Amino acid sequence: MKEMIKSLINGCLSPLQLEVRHIERPKVDSRKHLALIEETIGCYRELGFAPLPPSPRRAELMARLTGTNVSEAIYVLEHLRRALKVPGDICEFGVAAGATSALMANEIQDTDRKLWLFDSFQGLPRPTEKDVLIDDILGVGSMEAYEGRMAFPIEEVRGRLRELNFPPARTMIVPGFIEKTIHSTALPAQVAFAYIDFDFYEPILIALNFLHETMPVGGHLIVDDYGCFSAGAQTAVDEFLAAHAGAYSAIKPYPFAGQFLCIEKTA
Ligand SMILES: C[S@@+](CC[C@H](N)C(=O)[O-])C[C@H]1O[C@@H](n2cnc3c(N)ncnc32)[C@H](O)[C@@H]1O
Repeated sequence: MKEMIKSLINGCLSPLQLEVRHIERPKVDSRKHLALIEETIGCYRELGFAPLPPSPRRAELMARLTGTNVSEAIYVLEHLRRALKVPGDICEFGVAAGATSALMANEIQDTDRKLWLFDSFQGLPRPTEKDVLIDDILGVGSMEAYEGRMAFPIEEVRGRLRELNFPPARTMIVPGFIEKTIHSTALPAQVAFAYIDFDFYEPILIALNFLHETMPVGGHLIVDDYGCFSAGAQTAVDEFLAAHAGAYSAIKPYPFAGQFLCIEKTA
């Protein structure tokens, strides 16, 4: 149980769980696991998070998260809710096996918004010099050794969305490295919320610059791994915010929640 609680709250463990598919899970009653997740959501309400609309699938989808921990997922849900006040689609940049994509799909099931999912499905690209290794999360020894890691088949993502009956007409999967796909013609015209989980400097900056053009004031985004794994994630966000001073407000989560940054477009 101690291990489970640690994995619920610890942000930097998650990529390891992503790769090690057969990691030994603590033996807990799944009902207790779901109750623990509900309780964690309740704790965040005590901290001022808005109540979420009822959803019979939410806790189960959260229990199946691999690349994002439960605390971070609660922030994702909170900022997604806030962003639904403005028009636009929902994006995830860095999808892996689609566990967080399914969680977000569930939240927008009753809307007419599209879910855009960007991933190479060939894993991480070659890191740049800005991608200095802060945490060797997979213990592979160097930043370069991460190239190609975290690759998942696109079918796994499609399968999760099918299970939810999320409409195929609103499922927009864009396979390929973002450095190329960002120049394709099939891209969202307006984005209300985005979860950026690309890990490395260059793809994160590409996503941020794209969102700057497509996000209305009142839109929200969350960038994962701010200050962990590769230094490039924080560098990209800091450079972006400095280049657009006054246009965004950023909130660092409570330290126990994980390492990510929540950003709102304010001007
Ligand atoms: C940490 S995983 C995403 C985890 C996922 N958001 C979740 O919560 O389960 C990072 C993903 O980003 C993808 N990725 C990284 N850089 C990319 C790039 N330049 N273009 C496209 N996909 C990229 C990788 O293929 C990998 O699946």
